[in-house]
Amino acid sequence: MPKTLADLRSRRWFSASDMRAFAHRQRTQQMGLRREDVLDKPIVAIVNTWSDLSPCHAHLRERAESVKRGVLMAGGYPFELPAMSLGEVMVKPTTMLYRNFLAMEVEELLRSLPIDGAVLLAGCDKTTPGTLMGAISMGLPSIFCPAGPMLNDRHQGKTVGAGTHTRMFWDEMQAGKIGPAEWVHLESRMTRSPGTCNTMGTASTMTSMTEALGLSLPGSTSIPAMDSAHTRMATACGERIVQMIWDDLTPQRILTRGSFMNAVAVQMALGGSTNAAVHIIALARRAGIELTLDDLDAMSRRIPVIANLFPSGDRLMEDFYYAGGLPALMNVIAHELRLSELTVTGKSVGDNLRGREVLDAEVIRPLTQPVSQGGTLAVLRGNLAPEGAVMKASAANPKFFKHRGRALVFDSQPQMQAAMLDADLDVDENTVLVLRNAGPVGAPGMPEWGGLPIPKKLLQQGVRDMLRLSDARMSGTHYGSCVLHISPESAVGGPLALVRTGDTIAIDIEARSLELLVDEQEIARRRAAWVAPVQPYTRGFTKLYQQHVTQAHEGCDFDFLQGAAPTPEPVIY
Ligand code: FES
Repeated sequence: MPKTLADLRSRRWFSASDMRAFAHRQRTQQMGLRREDVLDKPIVAIVNTWSDLSPCHAHLRERAESVKRGVLMAGGYPFELPAMSLGEVMVKPTTMLYRNFLAMEVEELLRSLPIDGAVLLAGCDKTTPGTLMGAISMGLPSIFCPAGPMLNDRHQGKTVGAGTHTRMFWDEMQAGKIGPAEWVHLESRMTRSPGTCNTMGTASTMTSMTEALGLSLPGSTSIPAMDSAHTRMATACGERIVQMIWDDLTPQRILTRGSFMNAVAVQMALGGSTNAAVHIIALARRAGIELTLDDLDAMSRRIPVIANLFPSGDRLMEDFYYAGGLPALMNVIAHELRLSELTVTGKSVGDNLRGREVLDAEVIRPLTQPVSQGGTLAVLRGNLAPEGAVMKASAANPKFFKHRGRALVFDSQPQMQAAMLDADLDVDENTVLVLRNAGPVGAPGMPEWGGLPIPKKLLQQGVRDMLRLSDARMSGTHYGSCVLHISPESAVGGPLALVRTGDTIAIDIEARSLELLVDEQEIARRRAAWVAPVQPYTRGFTKLYQQHVTQAHEGCDFDFLQGAAPTPEPVIY
């Protein structure tokens, strides 16, 4: 039902003739607003994850001004609301610890203030799911304005991408192939401008999936952060949200199981980050929609990787933009999409895709010439991962798709890091490296420790990949044969806690299995003797997190935030 002025949520704050509404109007006039600005217009929140310590969001203050211009032109009134800025690289111990914090903050910002609709300005790995989770739970019309990827860069004539090449060059330095002067020079390369990582890491995976969900403007995801088209897109977001408010176009009307399957299809065609497996399930649960790891695995088996982007391919997001961006890619896999799903444009996915063709078939490949036929993501199960684990098959070495090896187990990240430098470490290229106590509760926050480094002595022998297992996550920009998100995690007694150095571990990607080859009686003995690790967190947000976070296969949301039941509106007095 279209809304009238009298239906606006903000009217509850501003329109009454009592003392409280007087005070609300008075305080906006205190800031220089006219009486009619809040009485006669929809109020738009611009939720901004900018901060001086968040390079991916460094330009969002300026973009907020563009959004405001769009809101004003469309007859709304904008208010910019700062929200926790989670720049992936600086925030410790891990941004994942704070994704739910941001989600709660966004939900409560929108609930507690006189807001009719929201533009979400975000884009780094956790700010996209964090802001969306909050907006979905609050249920106001919302549009996502992606921060946009940083510009391409080159080093010694070769394309280099954020994250992916950092790890590559680090391994080369450990192997003695890069000297100190080049290493220092590389600090100024790969990250050429503000904006999100220019590889198909978690940031671009999540913003692309958001666009596929129908929550951002078609084609907005791949626009480089520093392109003037990005500024125009931000203005368009501001303009669009005003009409969305009048049309009452809420996330609940846009999000369906079909739209989530569209997002999953896009993840697979892009060779997207494994982190999306956690975030998309969390988002679906916020919307009250059933989505499981099995849905992701089934889609991965059907859709090959067709985006030639690091780490699965060899191009960057700017190339993807020139090649036609996400709408062009979605047209290639249109037969797998639910084209009738509604989007923020007020039109269907199919309407939005019309006429958006591939402009460079080397970057967005036809289905007959995929980057990887094997699929993006494999969901593994077995006695080591009863609730599932994931592996980015498109960025792994096929030699480990069927493998048996001797486990070398580490109980903590510092222990593992120190061992990697040990010239006498008992390890060879067939060893299976295992890291535990790195999951949602154990670490806590499930950091990106799952791309375990290769032991230095093997790097020097030319080894660049090994089979690695953990209950942690891995950066979406990284690559390697890493089994991640093992669930349930070791810190809550999952089977990973029972592995010992010297055990044999078997993996079979085609069969989707991950097994600890130890007899059941021995496993039962170890389980009986297992003691949960002592946790030092006795107060604060981390304590709350450990008490309420769900496991990886459930999305790592807080148990009390899942589900579609709305929290009651605040009493206005
Ligand atoms: Fe923010 Fe990669 S660090 S997008």
